[in-house]
Amino acid sequence: MESLIQENVSLKPFNTFGIAVQAKQFVEITKREHLSQLFNEGLFKQDFLVLGGGSNILFTQDYTGLLIKINLKGIGYTIQQNHSFVTAQGGEVWNDLVWYCIDHQFPGLENMALIPGTVGASPVQNIGAYGTELMHVFYSCLAFDTTSGQFVTFYKDDCNFSYRESIFKSKYKNRYIIIEVTYKLDLSATINTSYGAIEKELSNRQIQHPTIKDIAEVVSYIRVEKLPDPSTVGNAGSFFKNPIVPKSTLQRLLIDFPEIVHYKIDEKSYKLAAGWLIEQCGWKGKKQGGAGVWHNQALVLINANQATGQEIFELSSTILNDVYSKFEIQLEREVNIF
Ligand code: EPU
Repeated sequence: MESLIQENVSLKPFNTFGIAVQAKQFVEITKREHLSQLFNEGLFKQDFLVLGGGSNILFTQDYTGLLIKINLKGIGYTIQQNHSFVTAQGGEVWNDLVWYCIDHQFPGLENMALIPGTVGASPVQNIGAYGTELMHVFYSCLAFDTTSGQFVTFYKDDCNFSYRESIFKSKYKNRYIIIEVTYKLDLSATINTSYGAIEKELSNRQIQHPTIKDIAEVVSYIRVEKLPDPSTVGNAGSFFKNPIVPKSTLQRLLIDFPEIVHYKIDEKSYKLAAGWLIEQCGWKGKKQGGAGVWHNQALVLINANQATGQEIFELSSTILNDVYSKFEIQLEREVNIF
């Protein structure tokens, strides 16, 4: 069988930071059987890395293993009682799926409009925005097990979802390749306008009874206003996670920083806004070498001027140190570093 592998391929078009590194070996998967072929050739025994939209990754050096770009396409659905089960292939662009659902009047994904990336990556980090998370609509996924060559189905309870986390990022990191995801959408779901910015923009537009299309449009508008467009300014969305801290830590911080942004999760824990912490350290809109912090959202690091991945990584380390010195809070990177 003909080899699928290309050698020394530039990864610049395949990562939204626009970092110009190379992969020693590169393969584009357009059919499921390609994965079985790679397995039979023993290629999963070496280092490999799976790329969806390349929107949550920072390359700090050339990649010396096999880079696998998932490009499987297709979306379909079935209706069962009051639910629509929408199945999309891993290489579909997430936002295309959102609009497919809106066009078919299936509610549930509209608050996550315009999140960059692919369907296959959506469960890995349990993507979320504007008051909702993927885990609320996830039904199952089909994944290729790179250790056995089998295709395996994972249901929601198998995935250990939590804020920006799943089993595919922890216990099964680098073992399964998600090739297809099924979402279970409640056809009688009500619209979620709980996020302040959505309410505000709906009111600006004088929309009193929003449709799911209105919500997707408003969310897209807010995102474009706040976040840089990767096609013009390299970035990977939020670079850090919002830290979750015990109540005692919040109480300590409130003494010196009474205006600290925080959200209650439960009686014992609170989420802090990492963007606020970084802004308080003076980093919003600042640059270090070719790397920078976005002027409208301090949680987003950017490729300001032909940055190397190393420069962006160094900026992230400086920010981690500064936030720790000021608040004694250890931020964690959300973006995967290679
Ligand atoms: N804030 C600041 N300064 C900043 C940024 C934010 O003070 O520079 C404050 C805001 O004023 C607000 C709070 O922090 O009070 C939260 O800000 P925002 O609503 O922008 O959301 P976020 O918590 O910073 C998270 C997600 C985003 C998602 C938004 C909206 C994470 C790590 N990030 O950001 O997700 O779009 O909520 O739901 O959870 C992504 O993951 O790539 C991403 C963009």
